[in-house]
Order: sequence, then C-alpha cells, then structure tokens
Amino acid sequence: MNQTADESNKQIAENKKLRIRRHVVLVGLMGSGKSSVGRRLAQQLGRTFVDTDRLVEHDAHSTVREIFETSGEEEFRRLESAALRAAVESPVPSVIAAAGGVVLSETNRRILAEGTRANDLVVVWLDTSTTELAGRVKRGAHRPLLDHDPQGTLDRMANDRRALYEEVSSIVIDTDGRSIEQVATELTELLGQNGVRNV
Ligand code: S3P
Repeated sequence: MNQTADESNKQIAENKKLRIRRHVVLVGLMGSGKSSVGRRLAQQLGRTFVDTDRLVEHDAHSTVREIFETSGEEEFRRLESAALRAAVESPVPSVIAAAGGVVLSETNRRILAEGTRANDLVVVWLDTSTTELAGRVKRGAHRPLLDHDPQGTLDRMANDRRALYEEVSSIVIDTDGRSIEQVATELTELLGQNGVRNV
C-alpha cells in the first residue's frame, strides 16, 4: 500500500464515480487458492493484493508459526481480526486473501456482513473438496494446524466452517480440478456482473 495521500484520494473519488465495490475478499479453507488466485485477480482488476497472514506477520514482527508456538492460537486469532479490520478499512481498492480461520470469529463475520451490506465489499468463497485440498496444501510454513493428520484436520475444518463461509459470501466458486488462471478469469467475469470494475 505504498501510495501517496493524493493518489489514494484520487482513487477514492474515482471509486465513487464508478460505484465499484472497494474490496474483493476471498475466503475458504487452507489451500483453496486464496493467495494465488487473489494475486492473479488483483492483476486483472488492477488492484492491490493484501493477504491477512502477511499483515499479521508484518505487525507482529513474527511468523504465523512462531505466533502459534509462542503465544498460542488465541493470540493469533486476535491479531488476525485486527489485520482483517485494517485490510477492510483501507481506502485502496484491494483483493484481500482472508486467512482460512477468519470466519470463526463472530466479530469478523460481522465486519464482512456490514461491508457487504454497505456495498463496500464483495466476499467470494473458494470452495474446494478436502480430498483436493489435502493433495494441494503444503504443511510447514504458516500452517502449523496441518502438522499432524492434514486430511483429518481439513475434513474437520470443512465440517465446522462450511456454513460460516456460506454465511459470509455472496459468490461461491467451485475450484476443484481448475487452474489458478481459470478461477481468476471466471471470477473477473462474475465480479463484472456484480458491479465490480477494474480500477
Ligand atoms: C489457518 C489458515 C492459515 C493461517 C493459519 C490458520 C486456518 O492461512 O492463517 O495457519 O485456521 O485455517 P491460509 O488459509 O492463508 O493458509
């Protein structure tokens, strides 16, 4: 988000004129493609790409894994909520990859619902079967919850979260067997029909 206040004001004025929705928020389980599709989509729409995990790491000066290990999941969820709020409140039209667990918090779900009602956000659920996810996701890195029994964990998460992803999203895309490019292109078309334009 390296831009001057002038550029930012110009963008806000243009957004009002075009009535574009300010942000596209991608939700879904780990491995559903939020970051890779999000990056591609941001290029196609000419928007900034933001990943809430990266915001958390930047703000905490620590990796997601370190936060889980030293401060625990509860603290991570607190930081995640602050990151989501900051991303959604930014005036810069963005594509936001919201980490898989954001829907667990009622506050986060309210942030997404209010943004949607205000026509400020469009929330997209990248829906992927857990069999495909288990083949796609890499353990390690920022996914400590998948260190043990990734397939079982993803199945449990899908069970607990599907209704929540459904609750917060207005667009659902089935990503099974589809490439990043295919999903991003379908999404760009769908978003156009839903009033989201290129910046
Ligand atoms: C999590 C998803 C991860 C990361 C953390 C917890 C989850 O992000 O925030 O490991 O609970 O689903 P991605 O969805 O970007 O992989």
